Amino acid sequence: MKKLKLEDVAALAGVSKTTVSRVINRRGSLSQKTIDKVEAAMAQLNYHPNVIAQQLHTQRTNLIGILVPSVANPFFGELTMYLEDALFQRGYKVLISDALNQTAKEERYLSQLMGHQVDGLIIATHNNKLEEYQHANLPIVAIDRFLRADIPVVASDNYAGAKLATEALIQRGCQHIIHTYTTNPSNWHDNQREKAFQAVMADHHLPAITYTTAFDCPPAERTARFERLFDEHPAVDGIFASNDLDAARLLSLARARGYRVPADLQIIGYDGAQATQELVPELATIIQPIEQMATYAVKLLADRMAGKFTPTSTVLPVNLKTGQTLKTLP
Ligand code: RIB
Repeated sequence: MKKLKLEDVAALAGVSKTTVSRVINRRGSLSQKTIDKVEAAMAQLNYHPNVIAQQLHTQRTNLIGILVPSVANPFFGELTMYLEDALFQRGYKVLISDALNQTAKEERYLSQLMGHQVDGLIIATHNNKLEEYQHANLPIVAIDRFLRADIPVVASDNYAGAKLATEALIQRGCQHIIHTYTTNPSNWHDNQREKAFQAVMADHHLPAITYTTAFDCPPAERTARFERLFDEHPAVDGIFASNDLDAARLLSLARARGYRVPADLQIIGYDGAQATQELVPELATIIQPIEQMATYAVKLLADRMAGKFTPTSTVLPVNLKTGQTLKTLP
């Protein structure tokens, strides 16, 4: 059987070999009509580009590594989905690694990704700093995490989000408010939520009570910690949880203990991933712009790979979603 070549596709599509190559690599500006013509010709001929030959020729793999703590967390699952899609639109393939609080796993993945000669990395893990990032000399973009002064960070406005959440509880009459959050030594951005909570509570001369858990705290231990919260503070009338999974857990524990939500206790979460909004539609939360964070991170990475200037820090706005776990304002 005759081996198919780039020129066969070009001849059938009625374009040049360069155009076929640009469509395959999604390089340069291409009209949708040209893309469709070339892809139809490739499909008709059952032509599959030789990836290895392309890589040798271009010295690029078109592979991007994404490191997240865990795709099982709805925030990171949704973030990964949007990152993958935005990269796909630009013609990249992705390698995804889960490295939930396992520095050794992150280190191993990082070295494997470098070994696969990825063209760039998007890092959203929460582990302690790895020395490797200090020496990595490929384009990197971080999400919610500071890695190195010249590595751009994309985050949402954690301080403003936590301020909105705390003020929403105070405006609705809460006096005994507790903030639950995950300790995060490597995540300056997330830690802004706790700072904002303290500041707003101080402004209103209210005690700022916090309950912390480790980011990788096992579910049973997390539940036990929250049970203790209710044992130690039976008069709690407001909870600001730093993520929606904790907010949902606290909501069901509170209901099981007989609290009427929102009459006795008001709860607000954080993140606003689509899955949690569908599963717990009554939950008030702070919505992070997950899609924009992902598409902007991909744009920054593409700019970095093209040697363009990129800002070192980008903070995107958040929104308050009121729900039945908050009282209605008069
Ligand atoms: O639920 C996961 C949390 O960790 C999110 O709030 C996100 O901002 C990340 O830091």
